[in-house]
Amino acid sequence: MSARGLSIKPGSAARRRLKQGGGALLLALTALLGGCGGGGTTVTDSAPGGSGSKAWSWSLPANFPEPKVPADNPMSEAKVELGRRLFYDQRLSGNGKQSCSSCHLQEKAFTEGLAQAIGSTGELHPRSAQHLANVAYNATLTWANPSLVTLERQMETPLFGENPIEMGVNDGNKAEVLKRLADDADYAARFAASFAGDSTPVSWGNVIKAISAFQRTLISGNSRYDQYLQGRVLLSAAETRGMQLFFGEKAECFHCHGSFNFNDQILHAASRLVETPFHNTGLYNIDGKGGFPEPNRGVFELTAKPADMGMFRAPSLRNVEVTAPYMHDGSIATLDEVLRFYAAGGRVIASGPNAGDGRASPLKSDLVTLIDLSAQEQADIVAFLRTLTDHEFLSNPRHANPFTPK
Ligand code: HEC
Ligand code: HEC
Repeated sequence: MSARGLSIKPGSAARRRLKQGGGALLLALTALLGGCGGGGTTVTDSAPGGSGSKAWSWSLPANFPEPKVPADNPMSEAKVELGRRLFYDQRLSGNGKQSCSSCHLQEKAFTEGLAQAIGSTGELHPRSAQHLANVAYNATLTWANPSLVTLERQMETPLFGENPIEMGVNDGNKAEVLKRLADDADYAARFAASFAGDSTPVSWGNVIKAISAFQRTLISGNSRYDQYLQGRVLLSAAETRGMQLFFGEKAECFHCHGSFNFNDQILHAASRLVETPFHNTGLYNIDGKGGFPEPNRGVFELTAKPADMGMFRAPSLRNVEVTAPYMHDGSIATLDEVLRFYAAGGRVIASGPNAGDGRASPLKSDLVTLIDLSAQEQADIVAFLRTLTDHEFLSNPRHANPFTPK
């Protein structure tokens, strides 16, 4: 699938929309994947700055480029293992009731199964927890935030955010939470080994670095589809028809979900210019002018620019079979329903506060239009999407909770 993936076709509607500045930022032009070479790459990264003793070695699926790693947070085995522990540790929340893994469950590709997440103090999050498969490659983080471009910065929101409260760490308990870790001899040793030379290894900065390093190892590229690309398995007739529709001009899915990671925002070690498009898919139209309900108005929440109304990042569709419910607010329950929504070219909500005809939204992407997809064709696309489930990833012991021995 080489060059098909990384960028939007020149001259396409999406490209035109990009030029109009429809919520997209042009950071840098991504090197085409085709140029990255394929075939089970193992890239060895030396870890400068004495961070961890062993050099890091990526073991990447065929055709996956090397992830970008910030210069001040090199990968190491010790750090990744420390980060895994912290990711699963409830002591990291203010009241000791939640860990990152409370909302990001491995068996669901690290999403949660809820339409809206619930924080440690019971506050309802307006949006659905995202899956974390291949999160290292996301050029921007979360559903609709063009300015959030590193895992390190993103983590400040679940840890310290107050609107809504997630982990509930604040000025009142920050020191206490760190002390819980520093007083634990195993943690003290792991922090010291991961951040050798640091005078106070147990710090918030290092907590964030370690969890980020762990998250960069959450690589998923061994689905049946990947095995098919490598010539190891065959797809069924229905899956093959679904694949052809997905990557074809009739269903148009690939324009926004066509990269090796089945999305359209990719960052990797050799990226030069990275495109970060956002899209309005016609899920809502509450005022006849394309309005989305507050506080889920997409990029608009940040920029207040009318053109950014309802603009969201296309999620990676890897493991999509296990990541329901779908969309930023979990408002679509099943993949069959997602396909009906796309075939109709938008969503009609008949009654209630969000009533409106999304099909008629003036802000909707040109790529989401009424498509003549039969029930069989919709089922075929769903069958193809189910080939993207990577069972090895969903049960990989290296990503699992270290505190509950399997
Ligand atoms: C209360 C549930 C909850 C907890 C706890 C939580 N998250 Fe999340 N996570 C979410 C939600 C909801 C989103 C989507 C946020 C948005 O779009 O505003 C998200 C998004 C993310 C993303 C962005 C993924 C992407 O594809 O861009 C990352 C990374 C992430 N979380 C990591 C973490 C880490 C690390 C922790 C622990 C420090 C954590 N989360 C704790 C609910 C949670
Ligand atoms: C114009 C770009 C675009 C096109 C074309 C497109 N999508 Fe999407 N897709 C998105 C965006 C953006 C979202 C998230 C929308 C939101 O949450 O508000 C999304 C969400 C999804 C989801 C939900 C994933 C999740 O984790 O919640 C699925 C499944 C999906 N798309 C499948 C498809 C299929 C199948 C096609 C082709 C029929 C398609 N998409 C065409 C942009 C697009």
